[in-house]
Amino acid sequence: MTQYRSAMAAPVDLIPREERRTCLREAGYNLFRVASDDVFVDLLTDSGTGAMSTDQWAALMTGDEAYAGSRSFGELEDAVSDVMGFEHLLPTHQGRGAENVLYGHLLSAGDVVINNTHFDTTRAHVAANGARAIDCPVEVATDLSADAPFKGNLDVENARVAAAEAGAERVAAVVLTITNNSMAGQPVSVENTHAARELADDLDVPLVIDACRFAENAHFVREREPAFSDSSVAEIAREQLSYADCVVMSGKKEGLSNVGGFLALRDPELAESLKPRLILYEGFPTYGGMAGRDMAAMAVGLREAVDDDRVRARVDQVRSLGDRLRDRGVPIYEPVGGHAVYVDAGSLLTQLEPSEFPGQALACAAYLDGGVRGVELGSLAFPGTDRPELLRLALPRRTYHDEHLDHVAETFSTVLDRREEIGGLELVTDPDPPELRHFSAELRPVETGVLAD
Ligand code: F0G
Repeated sequence: MTQYRSAMAAPVDLIPREERRTCLREAGYNLFRVASDDVFVDLLTDSGTGAMSTDQWAALMTGDEAYAGSRSFGELEDAVSDVMGFEHLLPTHQGRGAENVLYGHLLSAGDVVINNTHFDTTRAHVAANGARAIDCPVEVATDLSADAPFKGNLDVENARVAAAEAGAERVAAVVLTITNNSMAGQPVSVENTHAARELADDLDVPLVIDACRFAENAHFVREREPAFSDSSVAEIAREQLSYADCVVMSGKKEGLSNVGGFLALRDPELAESLKPRLILYEGFPTYGGMAGRDMAAMAVGLREAVDDDRVRARVDQVRSLGDRLRDRGVPIYEPVGGHAVYVDAGSLLTQLEPSEFPGQALACAAYLDGGVRGVELGSLAFPGTDRPELLRLALPRRTYHDEHLDHVAETFSTVLDRREEIGGLELVTDPDPPELRHFSAELRPVETGVLAD
């Protein structure tokens, strides 16, 4: 059951189809280049796009904008300590700011980082420091239809082999991304977190948890890991994070805020040694990259994040979008993850080669047919890899209603009906660096068909 009623209304319009066609053409068939006013249901990301609660809006007004010793920093520090169990807080402007501060300090050229699956900004920060990102997802994760409870887990045995091959002394950190965004938002079990801790101990390196979606992960643990079926989300989250030395957090996800992030650490010495980089790249340690009011709102948001009913409503809403799509025959990654439904564009548009960007073609078709915006995670976003061709439909938190979900499902139903008429795309520009090209590349249809008409 939904846990909120609207306290503010933001109007949205479905612009006419011919205008959507013009927008698509003018945007170079890249939905990152489409204005949000021209989008009807925006499922590009769950990052910073959710609705804050009335308590968070009230907290904004109490923000203390002091440069040093801000009261709002103290509130966020208390929330991080209570909810996540870490005593040392380094605030940043968003998650990637935290990554820059941490990985810039931890990594040297030639190092390796082991992760269940690196999220793209994490991978880019590892590479920017001359280090190598090694993904060790469990094998079942790459089977899009396999029903397994924790397809986000780290394959600890493979990670040990990878560490031995790289030279154990070259491993600088073990990272767990919970939930695993680059693996369809799949959860990581507490048991696997424990095993990752042992691996980090054996390698004598820190265990970092990327905790962007830690409460959604805890909800799945309660549903699927028998030892935790009677525990609350708050209890599970504390238990799971207790294995980590350090947390990287984007407050734009389960800080339930529009902006902000942080590093939270156990070791006071490591926290101290990161402060010069924090000051240089983010800001003074009691505000990092955030306004005082944003810290105040995030302090409230973090506590709301672990509310059992909030998380249940959230994960159930994502699941119900998956149900609607599956019921209409749309192939999706199973089981549905915590923040998004990942449509299997490769199976839907079998006529297209990876080089014709089936995920992007599907994204454009969904925009054209229903003003729905998702994000391609396939050959365009991950050039040179053999990853599946997926289209992610991420639901902002506390934002859309059943009618929107029905509209999305109907849109995909229409797309499905004329899937054979959907042609591929080719790059007009291929910007550097390759890991970031999908944000700005321009494309065009390669042949006549739905997108080209
Ligand atoms: N880690 C993960 C797992 C993420 O999903 C993100 C952002 C970040 C780090 C970086 O955080 O955006 O605050 O700098 N993910 C967004 C997404 C952008 O759409 O999945 P940020």
